[in-house]
Amino acid sequence: MLAVVPTGPGEVGLAEVDEVQPGPDELVIEVAAFSVNRGETFQLETDRPGWRPGKDIAGTIIQGGPRVVAHLPHSGWAERVVVPAHQTAVLPDAISFEQAAALPLAGLTAVRLLRTAGSILGRRVLLTGASGGVGHYVTELAAAAGAEVTAVVSSPERGARLLELGAETLAYDVADATGPFDLVLESVGGRSLPAALTKLRAGGTLIWFGQASREASTLDFFDFFKGPEAAVIKHFHYDSEPADGPDLATLVRLVATGRLHPELGRIEHWTTTGAVLDDLRDRRIRGNAVLTLGREHQ
Ligand SMILES: NC(=O)c1ccc[n+]([C@@H]2O[C@H](COP(=O)([O-])OP(=O)(O)OC[C@H]3O[C@@H](n4cnc5c(N)ncnc54)[C@H](OP(=O)(O)O)[C@@H]3O)[C@@H](O)[C@H]2O)c1
Repeated sequence: MLAVVPTGPGEVGLAEVDEVQPGPDELVIEVAAFSVNRGETFQLETDRPGWRPGKDIAGTIIQGGPRVVAHLPHSGWAERVVVPAHQTAVLPDAISFEQAAALPLAGLTAVRLLRTAGSILGRRVLLTGASGGVGHYVTELAAAAGAEVTAVVSSPERGARLLELGAETLAYDVADATGPFDLVLESVGGRSLPAALTKLRAGGTLIWFGQASREASTLDFFDFFKGPEAAVIKHFHYDSEPADGPDLATLVRLVATGRLHPELGRIEHWTTTGAVLDDLRDRRIRGNAVLTLGREHQ
């Protein structure tokens, strides 16, 4: 079968790989679409012998099984994948494979990030790196949960959809966001994190869930006295649950009932995966990027 394989640091190509061999309790899924995430572009930069990328897929369980969405640890960008049933959720007909493929990593992160935050009803929330896959989900879910969301994006075009999804306002630089905020959701690192921190109210919380800039942050103890005295910084990793099926089912239910709208900033055929990864790295994609299998010209 064909699969996307690493071909060099940050590079990928299509190649023949061994057919999947399901273990006990594993399903074989014929993949129809997958999505690519910034974290996976980071993984592709290191040499991992035998490893193939791919966490988010949607497709059909072979031999007449249902349409499903699945979250895998790796090897998902392929014609077929094996996955334990508890890492899947069944799709209603109304949800396309493209929409479903955009759900797992970014959607699970958004759901669990907001769960970590606790009640945000009536709270002021500052979200950095908001124009990406995670950012669109967080914005819509946080606004629906009653938060007043300020989304940090690089341009009005990259924030327009966030306003439609419920963001109260946009900021084009963290330093320009009007605080104080009860909660900061920080995913850019570098100079963004310390700047966002100073926007917190005293005793507020910053949840640190990414470093899209690839730059470490430097914190100054004395900056905390300028507002966020006694603030809490929580490190976050989305991979905290024993199984992803229940939260995937929640995401599917929210989409099916019109309460969550995957933002498909790019849909391409999977033969162009390398170019799409370059665009994702270079901030040329809003929301999620989805690659489809099947015939190229239909
Ligand atoms: N902790 C976890 O478990 C977890 C899980 C999933 C994702 N993450 C992390 O969360 C972040 C968001 O994930 P995602 O999949 O939504 O990523 P994404 O789609 O690539 O979005 C990231 C956004 O960050 C903004 N950004 C600001 N400064 C940047 C810079 N110097 N370089 C690159 N982007 C920059 C970009 O928007 P503008 O161009 O509009 O500024 C971009 O759209 C990433 O850092 C990712 O690694 C963490």
